Amino acid sequence: MRVVITGAAGGIGREARHQLAGRYSVLRLLDREEVDPAGPDEECLKVDICDLAALEAAMQGMDCVVHLAGVSVEPESNAWEQVLPANIVGTYNVFEAARRAGVRRVVYASSHHAVGYHRRSEILTGAALPRPDSFYGVSKVTGEALGRLYADKYGLSVVSLRIGAYRPKPTDIRHLSVWISPRDMVELLRCSIEAPLLHYVVAYGMSANSRAIWDNREAAVLGYRPLDNAEDFAAEVLADGAPELEGAKPFHGGWYCGWDLGDHGLFID
Ligand SMILES: NC(=O)c1ccc[n+]([C@@H]2O[C@H](COP(=O)([O-])OP(=O)(O)OC[C@H]3O[C@@H](n4cnc5c(N)ncnc54)[C@H](O)[C@@H]3O)[C@@H](O)[C@H]2O)c1
Repeated sequence: MRVVITGAAGGIGREARHQLAGRYSVLRLLDREEVDPAGPDEECLKVDICDLAALEAAMQGMDCVVHLAGVSVEPESNAWEQVLPANIVGTYNVFEAARRAGVRRVVYASSHHAVGYHRRSEILTGAALPRPDSFYGVSKVTGEALGRLYADKYGLSVVSLRIGAYRPKPTDIRHLSVWISPRDMVELLRCSIEAPLLHYVVAYGMSANSRAIWDNREAAVLGYRPLDNAEDFAAEVLADGAPELEGAKPFHGGWYCGWDLGDHGLFID
């Protein structure tokens, strides 16, 4: 297989590059930052995802695109102005370039912030309706919608991964539910790249956490069997971890839900 990774210079991209080294006949690594030097079977390209023509050229002859590039948090100011070009226009460009170049599958890095304002009392599956908790979350809802459109109208095979909290280990109480370890993250990407015969799937990016608030049956269908569990760090987190903001506690999205509310507080019931 010939696989493109966008955002290859970022945290998840670097880990994927490292763990997937040697697995595919070509790993083409794209970022607007430098990703050189290329290792064996790697190709490094400096590409901005806002440049559709450059993306189309970069996707020629490839089987799968793992789309990680973009703004990966809610910016503290001018959030809309930042997510619009990178996450919305850029993600449209990735799907459109993939279609034009005849790429079979796109694996899209969505986020649980696409459904952040659902209450934690509700266990979510991939069928949960959009309920974004931020402009970043809105951009991920849009990316998922683009994936669905390109699957239904143009026949691309698409996996949208609502990633939880990716980091070496969980550091706050909510992470005990939504954490994904580096090795599980890359295994989920590998399963999403290699799963045969799928049309459109939404799955969650989490480890085998005992306190899970997502029913990840869709990831199991992809063949994903996570090895790590945030519970192994629970004693440490409960002793040292930062407490959650009161307003954020009831919701899947955590502190994004309690942030930037103004004087009125929350409007949702
Ligand atoms: N890290 C997490 O906990 C987490 C959680 C949910 C979703 N995600 C999503 O997963 C993806 C990867 O996350 P990450 O933690 O590796 O992010 P990151 O910020 O470490 O990396 C993002 C990469 O995208 C590149 N990029 C940004 N704009 C670009 C553009 N216009 N053109 C080309 N490259 C561009 C950056 O240079 C960077 O290398 C993101 O889409 C993020 O929203 C991450």
